[in-house]
Amino acid sequence: IEKKDLLYKGKAKEMFTTNDPDIMWVHYMDQVTAFNGKKKVQMAGKGQTNCEISSLIFTDLAKHGIENHFIKQLDSNNQLVKRVQIIPLETVVRNFASGSFEKRFAVKHLMKFDKPVTEFYYKSDELDDPFINDFEVAALKIATEDQMNQIRTIALKVNDRLKEIFGKMNIDLVDFKVEIGIDADGHLILADEISPDSCRLVDRDTKKSLDKDVFRKGLGALVPVYKEILGRLEKVEGVN
Ligand code: C5P
Repeated sequence: IEKKDLLYKGKAKEMFTTNDPDIMWVHYMDQVTAFNGKKKVQMAGKGQTNCEISSLIFTDLAKHGIENHFIKQLDSNNQLVKRVQIIPLETVVRNFASGSFEKRFAVKHLMKFDKPVTEFYYKSDELDDPFINDFEVAALKIATEDQMNQIRTIALKVNDRLKEIFGKMNIDLVDFKVEIGIDADGHLILADEISPDSCRLVDRDTKKSLDKDVFRKGLGALVPVYKEILGRLEKVEGVN
């Protein structure tokens, strides 16, 4: 397969077209950003750890019946994925209070929820990804009611499996974000990435963050933390 034109450059990845119209080439950059790009740093090794973590997770999710865009990892920083049309929503699932939830409702850090909380944000850099509800999604014709129900179902299935995987790594899955795309057949499938950039992960013993909060809060070097996640992930039976 041949890499062709740069179609989209995000904050952590570049997407290229290929000689196959149904396949995209994803390059994971050695860059980390936070606060909608206001904090940005180049970091050697970051692209590779994210690419490897996301490849392992997407492969595992497919084995557990969660259809997704991942085709294969090409080398340390590059993947092939199915071309999809991304629905411009960030779907967040929360198991414990943290981040924007904790701030908005002034609740105790890591308060455990009885059942997962699902939220949607409208993907827009100019608007800073505002919170959006189902009625607003319908009014703006971003997705149909049926698609919203499918998105929720996919996100909660991902949550169930991720909780299982991270549990085996002695980690609590606090929250995470997924993006869903529409494939060539019109099916909704999981897309984008799942990595410590898009999840909050807390070690059950030390209660330390093992995710991008280390960068957001300036708690120390990020890449060693991501490597720790990759190392533990590679030891999980069935995932490796
Ligand atoms: O900031 P907030 O608490 O709303 O984030 C919830 C979860 O979604 C966190 O795991 C965060 O890393 C992820 N997220 C993301 N990309 C964004 C916003 C949030 O991956 N643009």
